[in-house]
Order: sequence, then structure tokens, then C-alpha cells
Amino acid sequence: MSIEGKVVLVTGGGQGIGRGIALRLARDGASLCLVDINRPAIDAVAGEIAALGGKATTFVADVGDREQVHAAIDHAESTLGGFDVMINNAGIAQVQPLSEVTEEEIDRILRINVKGVIWGIQAATAKFVARGQKGKIINACSVAGQDGAAMLGVYSATKFAVRSLTQSAAKEFASRGITVNAYCPGIVDTGMWEEIDERFSAVTGAPRGTISKRAIDGIALGRMETPEDVAGLVAFLAGPDSDYVTGQSIMVDGGMVYR
Ligand SMILES: NC(=O)c1ccc[n+]([C@@H]2O[C@H](COP(=O)([O-])OP(=O)(O)OC[C@H]3O[C@@H](n4cnc5c(N)ncnc54)[C@H](O)[C@@H]3O)[C@@H](O)[C@H]2O)c1
Repeated sequence: MSIEGKVVLVTGGGQGIGRGIALRLARDGASLCLVDINRPAIDAVAGEIAALGGKATTFVADVGDREQVHAAIDHAESTLGGFDVMINNAGIAQVQPLSEVTEEEIDRILRINVKGVIWGIQAATAKFVARGQKGKIINACSVAGQDGAAMLGVYSATKFAVRSLTQSAAKEFASRGITVNAYCPGIVDTGMWEEIDERFSAVTGAPRGTISKRAIDGIALGRMETPEDVAGLVAFLAGPDSDYVTGQSIMVDGGMVYR
């Protein structure tokens, strides 16, 4: 059983975890729709997929804009001939003490990390229902969606929201044959983590690498996570082996948080 021939849309597919997921699923035989605000980045990933002999299309959209998310799914369906799996991966980080965070900063991260997931759930479920078919929705949560984290307070709140939305959507759409799950990575070697490390140093005055070392020291498997580590779990959630799994936010963190 595999995901071969299925149409998968990945938001934030231009780099990091989204890119890793897209390449893994393309290798497994899925057709990919890469969605991002960064046109050159998704074009480059589509090129990598083509070089593997896979099939990919690209669509520029901001996940915080409801209409653009609907348009992205329409594009996936019309270009690739179907729509089976929605991966709400795009998200932004924010290293900011709760004592200092501004309304503008809170609104920005809520718009992308929370509203973006809600628009993704709305648009994907509407499309599955319109097509009269089952479907899978997979959301990006985090270890920060399981335990609150100092300096990442609002980010962590957005990921707690993703976990609750995953449970609520799973219950709401189960009767339609739609499953909704999430992946909870730990410390993944991507642009986002570099940004977190840099911002942490700027805010605390600690040398670059301090937060990374502290975080990696707390990982049971003793190394930083790669996008491929995350993609392995997502491949399971996207494929038929997870048909009886729904509403779960599953840890993929090398042993940091135990649930
Ligand atoms: N890196 C980590 O350690 C880590 C850990 C746990 C969870 N996560 C989560 O995994 C997901 C991916 O993280 P990453 O590390 O690959 O991040 P990243 O910053 O490396 O890549 C994110 C991608 O999303 C795109 N993007 C940003 N805002 C967007 C928007 N409004 N609309 C569409 N695309 C947008 C960016 O252009 C970029 O290509 C995020 O939701 C993040 O919160 C990351």
C-alpha cells in the first residue's frame, strides 16, 4: 500500500520541513502541489522533483488569506487531476518574551499559524466533500504545542491551537471519511531554527548556538532532527497505513517530550 498516484498539497513547500516532505512523497510516487509565498523557492523544489522523475506544480499563496488557500487547492485539482492530501505545514516562529510582545506581532503569527491552518482545513474539507471522496489533512504542530516554552510563548500558543484544531476537525469530519492529524517535530535543522537561535542570542545576549546546544543536549537520540526525520512520519500519516488514525498530534522529536 502506498501513496502512489495521490495528489498532495504542501504549504510552505519552498524550504525546510515542507521541502523535505515534498521530496519524500514525490519519491513515494505522489504528485505534489507546492504552495509558498516564495516563488523562486517552490520553483527550485519543483525542479528537484522533476529531476527525480516526479510530478509537481507550484502556486504562490499566503496561507493567511482564505481565498488564496482555496485557489491553491483549485489549482492542485485542475493541474494534477485530483486532490487527496492537504499538508498545512507553513508557519512562522517568534522569539519574544511575553512581557514585550506587541499586538502587531501577536496578530501576525496568529494570522499565519492559526488562521492559515483553519483556512487549510476549510478549503480541503470543502474540496473533499465536493468531490465526494475521503481525504487526509496533516497539520504542523510542534513540541511547543505540547509544552509551553520560555521566549516562544505566543508561538507555543499557536501550536497548542493547532493541536486543538486537529482534534476538533477530526471529530467534525470523521463521518465524511476525512482524517486529521498533526506532526510535532522537535529541533529541526531549517531556516526557522537558525532564526530562533539568532533571535534568542539577540534577546538574551547569549552567544549564537547557546539555545541550540541546550536543546540538543535534551534530545534522547543525541542529535538535531532533519526534515527527512519529519517526512518519515508524514509519509505514514499521508498514506493508507494511517487510515484508522485521527485527531492525533504525534511526536517526532528524537525523545524530548513524552506523551
Ligand atoms: N524547524 C523546527 O525546529 C520546527 C519544529 C517544530 C515545528 N516546526 C513547524 O514546521 C513548519 C515548517 O517549519 P520550517 O522549520 O520548515 O520553517 P522554514 O521557515 O524553514 O520554512 C517555512 C516555509 O513556509 C513559507 N511561508 C512562511 N509564511 C508563509 C505564508 N504566510 N504562506 C505561505 N508560505 C509561507 C516560507 O516562505 C518557507 O518556505 C512550521 O509550521 C513550524 O512551526 C518547525
